[in-house]
Amino acid sequence: MFKKEVYIDRRNRLKKEMSSGLALIFGNSEASYNYPANTYHFRQDSDFLYFFGLDHPDFVGVIDIDNGKNYIFANDVDIEDIIWMGPQPSVKSQAALVGVENTAPYNDLADFLATQIKSGRKVHFLPYYRGDRLVQIKQLLGLLTARVKDYVSVELVKAVIKLRSIKDKFEIAEIEKAIDIAYDMHTTAMKMAKVGIVEREIAGTMEGISLAQGGPVSFPVILTINGQTLHNHYHGNTLTEGRMMIADAGAETTMHYSSDITRTTPVGGKFSQRQKEIYEVVLNANMKAIELIRPGIEYREVHLASCKVIAEGMKALGLMKGDMDAAVKAGAHALFMPHGLGHMMGLDVHDMEGLGENFVGYDEHTKRSNQFGTAYLRLGRKLQPGFVLTVEPGCYFIPELIDKWKKDETNAEFINFDKVETYKDFGGVRIEDDVLVTETGNRVLGKPIPKTVAEVEAMAASK
Ligand code: GLY
Ligand code: MN
Repeated sequence: MFKKEVYIDRRNRLKKEMSSGLALIFGNSEASYNYPANTYHFRQDSDFLYFFGLDHPDFVGVIDIDNGKNYIFANDVDIEDIIWMGPQPSVKSQAALVGVENTAPYNDLADFLATQIKSGRKVHFLPYYRGDRLVQIKQLLGLLTARVKDYVSVELVKAVIKLRSIKDKFEIAEIEKAIDIAYDMHTTAMKMAKVGIVEREIAGTMEGISLAQGGPVSFPVILTINGQTLHNHYHGNTLTEGRMMIADAGAETTMHYSSDITRTTPVGGKFSQRQKEIYEVVLNANMKAIELIRPGIEYREVHLASCKVIAEGMKALGLMKGDMDAAVKAGAHALFMPHGLGHMMGLDVHDMEGLGENFVGYDEHTKRSNQFGTAYLRLGRKLQPGFVLTVEPGCYFIPELIDKWKKDETNAEFINFDKVETYKDFGGVRIEDDVLVTETGNRVLGKPIPKTVAEVEAMAASK
């Protein structure tokens, strides 16, 4: 937990961003896995962590925008809980750690809110992503289930995004810790990428490194020799000669800040000529994006510049043809890179995505594109100092997409389909770093993780 002044300051800044009323910030409850008492590893809600810092189930925070009071509604544990969980600090003493003076049992919350609503005050709440929260909101505020989503406060969503988008130095230090754990995960994976090993042995080892150094992984490990499937969570393949292994994985620190790193390693540790050619196109796209990142530039512009590097690289290899500015404008590069360049990262690996991707990644100046490929870009708006984002270009040969575009003659003036056919057995490459936007440019966060062909080969060959 940060010092209590950090949380006091965040709540005070939220009050300045809002007009009036109460902000209701829900902590998470335990969630059952395959029977009620067998729960998933507890994960606190990120907005609750941001404003109230307490990492326990069944806490609800209230910030009164008008009179400056803050509350925590939660129950103290009883003797039965202590027998199973050990002694727990009182709600009052926990609340004091984050500068909250007013506490009350959870059962007082409904009456408290009813009194506020009766006196004409607005209760703001954020979008929900768990079913139990929907039921809780409906009960607390007396709403019909089907109407709850209509009462989500856009004002609160925008205020929270404004604050959480700018990371302070303590948050950046936590994110760098998470990246340094990812360094250990990824360099271990590179060394393990040998013929005959099964993907799950490497994926499990990576997850274990994360757990041993901080928290769980920041999202389920993507590790596959079928990297052409972008979010491939199947880990049952045996690594074979001639394939490349994409590992897209990050850690969460004990404070729940994340990392998100992707590296691609040739099975056996040595790139073939064909692999090296595609790999270096993606590496150039990654480095071009990093070169451009600075305050004031739209991330969509960085995305398109990175896509242009992919397209130029494909043209140099005979896979595309024609004018690459026109090709990128038409979206022809999306045959090879059908996803966005990156997203915000922080307490959530896709930071604040639960609050609404368009509120996080777009604004009144930058609207989301509806073109295949660029439409998947999660962050498009102008960058500001303090943003932490991912840079994750890739190049994939997706047989089904190639067949479809060929049949439909999609962007046929820019694609050499006969040549593309010969890459259907290639798989994919993705290279992802986590980058801070600074006052003057950017800084790639964390200890540098091997990225060039020579660095990856050297790491894969090391003990
Ligand atoms: N690293 C997985 C993703 O960003 O979606
Ligand atoms: Mn990512």
